[in-house]
Amino acid sequence: MREDNEPSYSLSAAANRLRRSVIRTILPLTTQPGVISFAGGLPAPELLPAKQIQAAIEKALREHGSDALQYRPQYRPLREWIADFMSKLGVECEPEQVFITNGCQQGLSIMARLLLDMGAGVIVEKVAFTGIGQMIAAPGAKPLTVETDLDTGLDVDRVEHLTSDRPRPRMVITVPNYHNPLGVSVSPEKRKRLAEIAARYRVPIVEDDPYVMLRYEGEQLPAVTALTEKGYAFYLGSFSKILAPAMRLGWIVAPPGLEDKIIVIRESFDLESSALIQRAVAEFCLSGQLEPHLERLREAYDERRVTMLDALEREFPDGARWSRPKGGMFIWVTLPEEADTWAMFDDAIKRQVGYVPGEAFAIGDRMKNTMRLNFSNASPADIKEGIKRLGKVIREHLEYRRAFLAAK
Ligand SMILES: Cc1ncc(COP(=O)(O)O)c(C=O)c1O
Repeated sequence: MREDNEPSYSLSAAANRLRRSVIRTILPLTTQPGVISFAGGLPAPELLPAKQIQAAIEKALREHGSDALQYRPQYRPLREWIADFMSKLGVECEPEQVFITNGCQQGLSIMARLLLDMGAGVIVEKVAFTGIGQMIAAPGAKPLTVETDLDTGLDVDRVEHLTSDRPRPRMVITVPNYHNPLGVSVSPEKRKRLAEIAARYRVPIVEDDPYVMLRYEGEQLPAVTALTEKGYAFYLGSFSKILAPAMRLGWIVAPPGLEDKIIVIRESFDLESSALIQRAVAEFCLSGQLEPHLERLREAYDERRVTMLDALEREFPDGARWSRPKGGMFIWVTLPEEADTWAMFDDAIKRQVGYVPGEAFAIGDRMKNTMRLNFSNASPADIKEGIKRLGKVIREHLEYRRAFLAAK
């Protein structure tokens, strides 16, 4: 039967495949006044460089006048800056291989248009960023899932097994640095294996890498794209986490020869990224403001990460485990088997603390005893208090669940 608010006309098959976003449903609850939220993937508001961005926009307008307000092709100096930045990750590319996007999310959508069809296989982790799930679902592609080890990243033996199958999958997608939501990074050995697998079976890697610059510990590892034979890797970068999400700016580095196709796909979404914002971001980066800004972010986020890890140790019950990210914004928690992080969500909100139930990131299986915690958006004092509240909610929930299961 038709529901009251369903349209009486037909929606596309793609629209009919879409489900309500779990995260969108819970985020308003976690942003109510008084709630300490570990839910969103947000940068710290006080660290967004508003004044510097204002100055960069003013300068872009002063220097570029109407050019900054016009329909314009991609801004070459920004493409050049990104090509240079990529060389620091070991990726040698020409500015012509860099395509400016409205964030990594649009990069993912462009990848889907470029590589996927209905029913095409995509190798993806069982626990993945929601936008990756959406990118696979949109064209009706088929997720081929692999497990992720919380110390070393995705299961590359399984990746190889699935990649060697026919018909060949169309892409392997990975978030190699400080995974959202798992917090893990792909080990150097696994990066090499992924690169070899891509070239051997001619299945491209899509490397979704918005957190690479938020490194608090350990060595900078080479991008998977840097290790992969030319032609078998696409790199997606973003200014959202290192500058501001509202700039809506990111990039794709693509193998040579795809410019015509990528530009036309890009245009079909929204013609082009804002000429003004591209010039302002170029001004910010080229005038040397990015590195000191990143230093500030790394210092503040590292303190929050360590504060959260310490608080988890103190406040969470025996049997709870969590990832120990060396960068990024997220910690992944696995509670004892009998816990259900959906069932305890309302209690957490009543106690004024928010998180995302892990199931929001599941591609396939249920993972009812998991949750994602963000540590970049709350102050260290709030992190201590919020984890204490959450620890209590979890203990009470476990007590209740155990009594309930024993009575069954
Ligand atoms: C793994 C991953 N990919 C892509 C995105 C989208 O980022 P952007 O703001 O650059 O579109 C995010 C945002 O949280 C993310 O975590």
